[in-house]
Amino acid sequence: MNRYLRTPLIAGNWKMNLTRPETRALIEEMKPLLASATCETALCVPFTDLETAQAVAIDSNIVIGAQNCHWEASGAFTGEISAKMLSELGIHLCIVGHSERRQYFGETDETVNRRLRAVLGEWMTCIVCVGETLSERESDETFRVIRRQVEGALAGIPAADMKRVVLAYEPVWAIGTGKTATAEQANEVCAFIRGVIEELYGETVASTTRIQYGGSMNAKNAAELLSQPDIDGGLIGGASLKAHDFAAIAAAASK
Ligand code: PGA
Repeated sequence: MNRYLRTPLIAGNWKMNLTRPETRALIEEMKPLLASATCETALCVPFTDLETAQAVAIDSNIVIGAQNCHWEASGAFTGEISAKMLSELGIHLCIVGHSERRQYFGETDETVNRRLRAVLGEWMTCIVCVGETLSERESDETFRVIRRQVEGALAGIPAADMKRVVLAYEPVWAIGTGKTATAEQANEVCAFIRGVIEELYGETVASTTRIQYGGSMNAKNAAELLSQPDIDGGLIGGASLKAHDFAAIAAAASK
């Protein structure tokens, strides 16, 4: 499959980090460093930082996104934010199904699917995260778990909407641990995900859908991971909080 059909996407996931002044300072520092990147670059920031981040990034090639959203447009869901609210803010990108949401906030394949539908329903692009835990990998369940998560997330999503879906393979054991999957391990699962997408939607959709790797990607290991044929970018946690590290990853994806 021709990987040149897929522009790499390097997306930062700031998680629950940075106040508005810190957001302003970090994006100002990143802008010149990312100006020559030929990959797509994005930062998924806390809800409270969205407007500030958008204002600072307005004259740059950095897309600002959110990290989660609820599936209903409005209603009695204390503490939640809807895709409609994000869309009204001018946000066009949202992550769903991050493993921290699955682990700590009871996210299931079904709620990931509902959130994805809501994001797509607002004409936004969605990064859908999947990944196995260490015990699942050690008991040889990686492919079964990944298939269940991919099929569950994409249930009922029409092929036409897949243009706005990015998958992120993030092995839970590699997130925030400094322990990265080897390039071969990461590519093997990304290729498997592409195979599942091909079964569901056919070759054209499979060859144009972007699949990122995430989990301790950093300035040092990015080039090797991103050189793999089925890895189309990265979802970056820790290293996206450091301008030079994030820029180095984007530079590696721009080759
Ligand atoms: P990490 O996080 O790069 O800090 O491992 C990745 C993620 O959780 O998206």
